[in-house]
Amino acid sequence: MELTSQEKAMLEGEFGSATRKAMEILAALGKIYGAERLLPVSSVQISGVSYDNLGDAGLEFLAEMAGGGGRARVLTTLNPAGMDIENPGGLGIPEDFARKQRQVIDAFAKMNVVTTCTCTPYLVGNLPHFGEHIAWSESSAVAYANAVLGARTNREGGPSALAASLTGRTPAYGLHLDENRRPGVAFEVQATIKGTDRFGLLGMAAGRMLEKLPGKPVVYFSKIPTATVEELKSFCASFATYGGAGLFHIEGITPEAAQFSPPLQKVQITENDLLDARNSLGILEEPVDFVTLGCPHLSLNEIARLAELLDRRKVKKEFWVTTSRPVKQTADRMGYSTIIEESGAKFATDTCCVVAPIAGRFKHMVTDSAKACYYGAAKNRFKVSIRSFEDVVKEALS
Ligand code: F3S
Repeated sequence: MELTSQEKAMLEGEFGSATRKAMEILAALGKIYGAERLLPVSSVQISGVSYDNLGDAGLEFLAEMAGGGGRARVLTTLNPAGMDIENPGGLGIPEDFARKQRQVIDAFAKMNVVTTCTCTPYLVGNLPHFGEHIAWSESSAVAYANAVLGARTNREGGPSALAASLTGRTPAYGLHLDENRRPGVAFEVQATIKGTDRFGLLGMAAGRMLEKLPGKPVVYFSKIPTATVEELKSFCASFATYGGAGLFHIEGITPEAAQFSPPLQKVQITENDLLDARNSLGILEEPVDFVTLGCPHLSLNEIARLAELLDRRKVKKEFWVTTSRPVKQTADRMGYSTIIEESGAKFATDTCCVVAPIAGRFKHMVTDSAKACYYGAAKNRFKVSIRSFEDVVKEALS
């Protein structure tokens, strides 16, 4: 891989041991993927922030990078942590976990990483523009950045995203290159898709179909007439989870779609496929003991809607409302938080029902998110059901 003189200096340790380590990670990645050079990046988003995922080995690595003089060279934000940083006790997070999680956040802060812990960085100021090269790692945000914003990123791991932050570079391969952004298959949607749950089910059905196609081509969707930001974030989370997709195009909606003609290979997605996706989660009789909204993190619009739906009534089940700190602060100012908290629902700010250490704590979780259903079952061993946003709130109140 060809390096500039500054990149060579980083690799030779002239910028300190952490930057050297970061450049070594990028050089190794570039070699594996056959990159010819590094690209400057303007934005980074780092996953693997929860102590539940990192453990002591991850914490040690971060402390070493921070101690070795590692400092973010570009705007860098974090994925959700394992707890609400300002109120871990409110969610029943044990004190020894909270202490370790704070050490993780402190190590990132020492490296000048912005410690807004969210999987929707694009809602809170980490918003790259069309064509910009970035290095993000949360899968739902990667799909959103590539497809909806038209920025360019591979799905980075935690260490490679940190390496990109400390050097301001990423290897030029994969979705950074024009040739890998061309669609190879058209998915025609023959069902009415409206609401975050239905977009999640579409991502689930499409993802499972994509998994069966050789080479997993970039998908070009047609016949989706409209989609809100919230529906797209739900779809990105689900399609990335069930199909491993980092990029797709939607005719008439996403910015690069118009550059391409629909591919000749066509697959149809029907109402039955969505029904199959829903049924594959199981039809459950088990009483619901956990309700959550906010996978990916709720937008301000969704929080306003939630406050309206609750209408000052009391919830009867454990109900987590997950969002980022900046959105929560705006919700505080607007009076939405008071309405939500007075209902008995709990804000789980900076975290979510997947990365918090709650495996086995609940039996049956209801949510509007197909991604949360996947990890709720696989990681946390819950039974899971998907409903519309409105029906999730009704479940909490019943
Ligand atoms: Fe975000 Fe957690 Fe879902 S990180 S996408 S809310 S699993």
